[in-house]
Amino acid sequence: MKLSTIIPLLPLASATPTQQARPHPSLNKYPGLDILAKRAGLLYFGTAIDNVVLNNSAYISIAHNSSEFGQVTPSNGQKWMYIEPSRNNFSYSMADAIVKPAIRARQMRRCHTFVWHNQLPAWLEGGNWTKAELTGVLENHIRNEARYFGNGCYAWDVVNEAFEDDGSFRDSIWLRVLGKEYIELAFRFARKYVGRRVRLYYNDYGIERVNVKSKVVAAMVKDFIDRDIPIDGIGLQAHFTVGRAPTYDDVKAALNLFIPLGVETALTELDVRIQLPDSLEKQALQAQVYANSTKACMDVGDCVGVTVWDFWDPVSWVPETFPGYGNACLFDDGLKRKQAYYAVSDVLRDDGE
Ligand SMILES: *[C@@H]1O[C@H](CO)[C@@H](O)[C@H](O)[C@H]1NC(C)=O
Ligand SMILES: *[C@@H]1O[C@H](CO)[C@@H](O)[C@H](O)[C@H]1NC(C)=O
Ligand SMILES: *[C@@H]1O[C@H](CO)[C@@H](O)[C@H](O)[C@H]1NC(C)=O
Ligand SMILES: *[C@@H]1O[C@H](CO)[C@@H](O)[C@H](O)[C@H]1NC(C)=O
Ligand SMILES: *[C@@H]1O[C@H](CO)[C@@H](O)[C@H](O)[C@H]1NC(C)=O
Repeated sequence: MKLSTIIPLLPLASATPTQQARPHPSLNKYPGLDILAKRAGLLYFGTAIDNVVLNNSAYISIAHNSSEFGQVTPSNGQKWMYIEPSRNNFSYSMADAIVKPAIRARQMRRCHTFVWHNQLPAWLEGGNWTKAELTGVLENHIRNEARYFGNGCYAWDVVNEAFEDDGSFRDSIWLRVLGKEYIELAFRFARKYVGRRVRLYYNDYGIERVNVKSKVVAAMVKDFIDRDIPIDGIGLQAHFTVGRAPTYDDVKAALNLFIPLGVETALTELDVRIQLPDSLEKQALQAQVYANSTKACMDVGDCVGVTVWDFWDPVSWVPETFPGYGNACLFDDGLKRKQAYYAVSDVLRDDGE
């Protein structure tokens, strides 16, 4: 199909005379993103959910609607500062508030994340560790968290964001104390404590084009495979900005870069922020970026699914992290579906021609 045609129209508010002759666009044209994604051959269409919004029943009824989202990622609840707030003291309540309803709703879980440089507790970040001690801390954390969540996760983001944009290793307590071997150590511990069917992912941003960083990630994964270090997948976060987002061709080329490695891929944190003030034109471009990325995943065999980094504008991480930007999600302030929602549906249905 021609890509220029994949920008979908908004559902018709009222039928024009010519359109009345055709079947009215019925409700089942939009049966939910996950239903369409599975029909299109993906494993899931998912969303991240944050704890701040658990008191909002209108939000929750969409978040845990498995026709809409077949997969859930806790935005924050499985990060180190919440899971192990003091040493060897594990707290799963924040994560459970999202994971348990997801299990009840039969939504797959992507679990996020064992090792990251960010959102670490002070006892860990401020500690004066020897290599042996910090290795023990890392193994203990992964062992406890992996055992608690059992084999219930479809995938774990084992290591998150280990590289800078120029392809160098990102500075962190892990790199400083353990050296770059911390990455493979984390994957070995993860494999030791989660079931074989749970996919172990490396997850990063800025790798949705063929560039220095995506090539460095590909080289690391190839090296892991050559040396029998367990790794099953690469997560491309896909945090995009209207006006400078990767195109369909860019994302497809990046996904293709990973195919020879024999691992699966996924878009794990898709959102498309808009420089405010918002406009219908910007929303149309946003819709195209969402559709382009989703289609790239559909068109590359090893890409198993797409996860949006929340679906509701008011709870997105964007406005706080990128002042002046916002409205990055599929649903607007009033929980109404935006052009981007319909664009993703239409591209999943593959009837854009
Ligand atoms: C779930 O979402 C789908 C798609 O929007 C909708 O058709 C369905 O009615 C929803 N189910 C519930 C229980 O809200
Ligand atoms: C949920 O809690 C937040 C923060 O505590 C509050 O701002 C918001 O109004 C609450 N929403 C509902 C629907 O109760
Ligand atoms: C464990 O962490 C929780 C949550 O921060 C805290 O309330 C509790 O006191 C801690 N327990 C121990 C033994 O440190
Ligand atoms: C860190 O530990 C080393 C080895 O025990 C010690 O020499 C050094 O003074 C400690 N540094 C700090 C800031 O505590
Ligand atoms: C979507 O992808 C197509 C094909 O790569 C490209 O021509 C188009 O500009 C992209 N749209 C946006 C808004 O990036």
